[in-house]
Amino acid sequence: MSATLITNIKQLVNVRQHSNLLRGSELATLPCIDNAYLLIEDDTIAGYGPMNELSTLNSRLPTAIDAKGAFILPAWCDSHTHTVFAASREEEFVYKIKGMSYAGIAAKGGGILNSARKLNDASEDTLFTQAWQRLEELSKLGTGAIEIKSGYGLTVEGELKMLRVIKKLKEHSSLSIKATFLGAHTYPQEYKNNHQGYIDSIINDMLPVIAREELADYIDVFCEEGFFSPGETETICRAGMAVGLKPKIHANQLNLSGGTQVGVKLGAVSVDHLETMDEAAVKTLANADTIGTLLPTAAFFLRMPMQPARALIDAGCAIALASDFNPGSSPSGNMNLVVAMSCIQMKMLPEEAINAATLNGAYAMELGQELGSITVGKKANLIITKPIPSLAYLPYAFGSNLIDKVMIKGAWI
Ligand code: NIG
Ligand code: FE
Repeated sequence: MSATLITNIKQLVNVRQHSNLLRGSELATLPCIDNAYLLIEDDTIAGYGPMNELSTLNSRLPTAIDAKGAFILPAWCDSHTHTVFAASREEEFVYKIKGMSYAGIAAKGGGILNSARKLNDASEDTLFTQAWQRLEELSKLGTGAIEIKSGYGLTVEGELKMLRVIKKLKEHSSLSIKATFLGAHTYPQEYKNNHQGYIDSIINDMLPVIAREELADYIDVFCEEGFFSPGETETICRAGMAVGLKPKIHANQLNLSGGTQVGVKLGAVSVDHLETMDEAAVKTLANADTIGTLLPTAAFFLRMPMQPARALIDAGCAIALASDFNPGSSPSGNMNLVVAMSCIQMKMLPEEAINAATLNGAYAMELGQELGSITVGKKANLIITKPIPSLAYLPYAFGSNLIDKVMIKGAWI
């Protein structure tokens, strides 16, 4: 067994004896220990406490690493990304600067269809190598667990290729990875006038192979005007649920799509985006176990109004934060920026944002018993900060890289 002892931690953040999903006002409580130590055995958190209790532990402790006043947090749990893609789309970014809309670009064959053409041309090896490099970058930025979606294939071969890449990432990466099948991301060109034909292909051609090869944990649908209706979303999700995939739905991004309601009705793990919410949608979510996952960098990049985090929290919703990392609407997977933007633009308290990006993010990947807090028995996924004056300094000094080191499953990266 290998053991690591970290001493003189200025503040050990999000320490919980037991953890549960946080909703509403619970998000504002972030339990911390000042001047703390942390003991890690192999890949697991084995103990912690205030420094003055360390001397009473038995003498067979490993040589200590002095944190020299750094803060230690659980690594970020990014529960919504599209990290596997073949190419960036900065040309569309410039079109948008010149005045075109996201929907307008999509209608002209840009957007998701642009990414799908490129993905279908790329080899599995190329996609793997590119995604691997992205994961390396993200882990240095403090991400320790990540959900990754398909949805840029939109053909049987393309979707399976993406999911096989994600499966290979799962097998080789030390990050905890969850895979989501998003065949229903948009209608491919050849099914433009035959929506039912594409839905049939998802259900009859893709899902059976995905189930047989165990290629996905979740099923997702882009429930949006001009994309998939609530009825179509339900049909596709139920087909996924029949082979063991729980829903995590793209909901209420551009319009009041009904995605939140259909997600809650299906018992979805999460409904994600939520830029466009009315009182009914907020109330539905507040009364549900389904997590509302907010993606502020997507709203920022698309110049949309931010998600109504305050209204959601005040109504008692369980909120997670994620990056939506993808080439079209959030070309950054930097969770530090997500946390900062949540505080700056959505008026989340630093405590709320950190809880939503760690513990609740873990729950949004059904990893809440394994990750997301400093809890004995959970995996040692940690962010060690550079010297900072306080925890609120993290989102305050947005854009500065304040991470000194990251530990994933007990190993420094
Ligand atoms: O989550 N909204 C749908 N899907 C992605 C964007 C996809 C793209 O533009 O490539 C999102 O924002
Ligand atoms: Fe997304």
